[in-house]
Amino acid sequence: MAQTNTQNTSHSQTDTFSPVKIAFIGAGNMTKAIIKGMVANGYPADLIMATNPSLPKLTALQAETGCHISQDNATALTFATTVVLAVKPQMLAQVCAVLPVSDVPKTQFISIAAGVSVARLQDMLGAPCSIVRTMPNTPSSIGMGMTGLYASADTPQSLKDCAEYVLTQVGDVLWVAHEEDINTVIAAAGSSPAYLFLFAEAMQAKTEALGLSAEDAKRLVAQALAGAGAMLLANPDTDFGTLRKQVTSKGGTTAQAIDYFNQAQLADIIAGAMQAAVDRAVAMQSSM
Ligand SMILES: NC(=O)c1ccc[n+]([C@@H]2O[C@H](COP(=O)([O-])OP(=O)(O)OC[C@H]3O[C@@H](n4cnc5c(N)ncnc54)[C@H](OP(=O)(O)O)[C@@H]3O)[C@@H](O)[C@H]2O)c1
Repeated sequence: MAQTNTQNTSHSQTDTFSPVKIAFIGAGNMTKAIIKGMVANGYPADLIMATNPSLPKLTALQAETGCHISQDNATALTFATTVVLAVKPQMLAQVCAVLPVSDVPKTQFISIAAGVSVARLQDMLGAPCSIVRTMPNTPSSIGMGMTGLYASADTPQSLKDCAEYVLTQVGDVLWVAHEEDINTVIAAAGSSPAYLFLFAEAMQAKTEALGLSAEDAKRLVAQALAGAGAMLLANPDTDFGTLRKQVTSKGGTTAQAIDYFNQAQLADIIAGAMQAAVDRAVAMQSSM
């Protein structure tokens, strides 16, 4: 599917987005990472609210960022007209059910809940409203995230700008043209950190089997993968294949390892795994 645009955005996007009141329902890891990023980039804490049923996370967040807090989710909709739904997907129906239906049409929503379609969310909210659906990934928690965003054609530009600003606080963002493209984002960026962790586990195990300590093996593998990831980003105009060829001397050790991967049809295995992720995303979405 075609993508509408690729945003190679950075945190400096703060410069072009005019702050508005934003409330976050759910004060967990993602909300904390996003609000910390916003405040660090100069967003007035006074314009931000987080709601959560239990107090400890809220008070810690308030102490760290200075944002408003409330244990009542409905307050989010009276405080702000832009609300980020940042609870676990399985909590979403319960959370939406207690929001005042009369406040929903005048509210714009940004959902970061994985696997919940715009139509399903609209259903849960019980009244028509504008929604941007997003799919962040785990590295968002350290500001290295990759988030896919989707909005229908009639979504106000102001909401799209706001969603892009919010998710840019925790990494890069990519708009997709069709909602089903979010499933591709899941396979390529949402689930893929785990593919690399699996690769890292296997590499660590073999390094240990070859005689190094667990600690040394972990260090070697982590730094090599981090360095390779950084090279991918540092060379945006270079094909991944070219980077690979640059470290693969003919007849050398890397070539031998790559040949082994190719004989085992690694590319087919990866394609199969990604298709399995897409298929699962489709199945989960229809059961939400
Ligand atoms: N973390 C990631 O890297 C990541 C990546 C991709 C997508 N996401 C999505 O982002 C969303 C948030 O993830 P997260 O990692 O931030 O999860 P989290 O740390 O578990 O945060 C969820 C928060 O929601 C709160 N909550 C529970 N019931 C609530 C209710 N009825 N009303 C308001 N808040 C309620 C929880 O409070 P208590 O702890 O007090 O119950 C918790 O603070 C999820 O939908 C997840 O799928 C996260």
